[in-house]
Amino acid sequence: MWQKMRERGREGERERFFWVLIIMLWSCNDSKLSHIPYVPTPYKLEEPANFVKMQIPPDNPFTVEGIALGERLFFDPILSIDRSISCSSCHIPNLAFTDGKAVSTGIDKRVGRRSAMSLINVGYYYKGLFWDGRVKSLEMQALMPVTDHREMGNDWKTVEDRLRRHPEYPELFRRAFGIKRAANIDRYLAAKALAQYERTLVNYNSKFDRVQRGEARFTAAEKRGWQIFFDDTLELPASECGHCHIDPLFTTLGFFNNGIEQINTLNDFHDKGRGVVTGRFVDNGKFRTPTLRNIMLTAPYMHDGRFATLDEVFDHYISGGHFADNLNPNVRKLRIREQDKKDLIAFLQTLTDSTFVNYSALDRHGSI
Ligand code: HEC
Ligand code: HEC
Repeated sequence: MWQKMRERGREGERERFFWVLIIMLWSCNDSKLSHIPYVPTPYKLEEPANFVKMQIPPDNPFTVEGIALGERLFFDPILSIDRSISCSSCHIPNLAFTDGKAVSTGIDKRVGRRSAMSLINVGYYYKGLFWDGRVKSLEMQALMPVTDHREMGNDWKTVEDRLRRHPEYPELFRRAFGIKRAANIDRYLAAKALAQYERTLVNYNSKFDRVQRGEARFTAAEKRGWQIFFDDTLELPASECGHCHIDPLFTTLGFFNNGIEQINTLNDFHDKGRGVVTGRFVDNGKFRTPTLRNIMLTAPYMHDGRFATLDEVFDHYISGGHFADNLNPNVRKLRIREQDKKDLIAFLQTLTDSTFVNYSALDRHGSI
């Protein structure tokens, strides 16, 4: 009997030793980070003079370290359940941060509901993010793709765990946000970093901008297209485009029905868009006016990617679109001829800024 008890005691000791080891390993993993300096470097965003200054949330100021972390997260598939999809899979820099598809595809080739949006100048979109404007801030938005089952199909607990155990992220979070230990990494800090990175995606070096600054000139066709676009002169036909796609952002950020869907009643829209957010019947089928900057890079077009080319987009607007009770009156039959259409497209081509190929916020500003 004594023998047995002694053996059990030894087993107990072994068990205790085993647990102590586990706890030690665990606490190594959650090691203190205080030996890594936390000296955040303020970052000054370069903004074009004709943009209204960007509003930066006071609890998430720009820092070089925050942007670097956000950029790293944006391009890292670690956020998706099977590590196959990053934010940049659907927001590809050289497609002006879209994906070239009608509707996006997530993990396991799951088909999304809507077309991926360009993130260019997204820091200025204060009237609500997404096609229906349902989200207020970039910090809130950044939490959503991870858990969307059609996008990254993950949960934040898993992501937090992966980031805490990662060989490099704890240091990057420490440098950006001054966390004391890896266990302090959480979704809200990740979202803050992503938002900082996204706010750096400011675009103002297209030919159009250079013409505005007196550094370049429009060709005759571009100028004619520009005049038609903004209904500049009575000698040329009106296009009404400029009411909603106003410069410098080429959007008022307003929500409109621009008549792309044929319906009998406002209940029939395939995607009710803004109506779901406001709960107002009259908002059914309205979507946020997208920017036309880099429009040559972001086909196919509209929230469901229904038009493959700009030619198709123009044919739609020239026809006046499908009637509905809430069709915006600026969408009406136009007297735009073939030559006018060509010139309008020449003008829209001046809105391309190819400096976004291989874009890196920090390279561009030479800060890191
Ligand atoms: C599977 C493709 C996919 C992935 C992955 C994805 N997005 Fe998106 N993104 C979209 C689509 C589609 C929309 C429009 C959705 C809507 O309107 O409902 C969108 C919209 C957005 C918007 C709103 C832009 C605007 O102008 O309002 C932001 C910001 C954004 N995404 C950032 C991100 C970030 C950050 C990540 C990574 C954490 C990410 N996205 C991952 C497809 C994707
Ligand atoms: C009443 C406001 C309004 C007017 C006028 C208007 N648009 Fe739009 N435009 C919108 C809205 C809203 C959308 C998004 C609709 C959707 O996806 O359901 C859009 C989408 C687009 C798109 C697709 C962009 C993308 O990223 O998918 C293009 C291109 C475009 N418009 C060009 C034009 C041109 C060119 C004109 C003039 C001929 C014009 N628009 C006139 C409001 C307007």
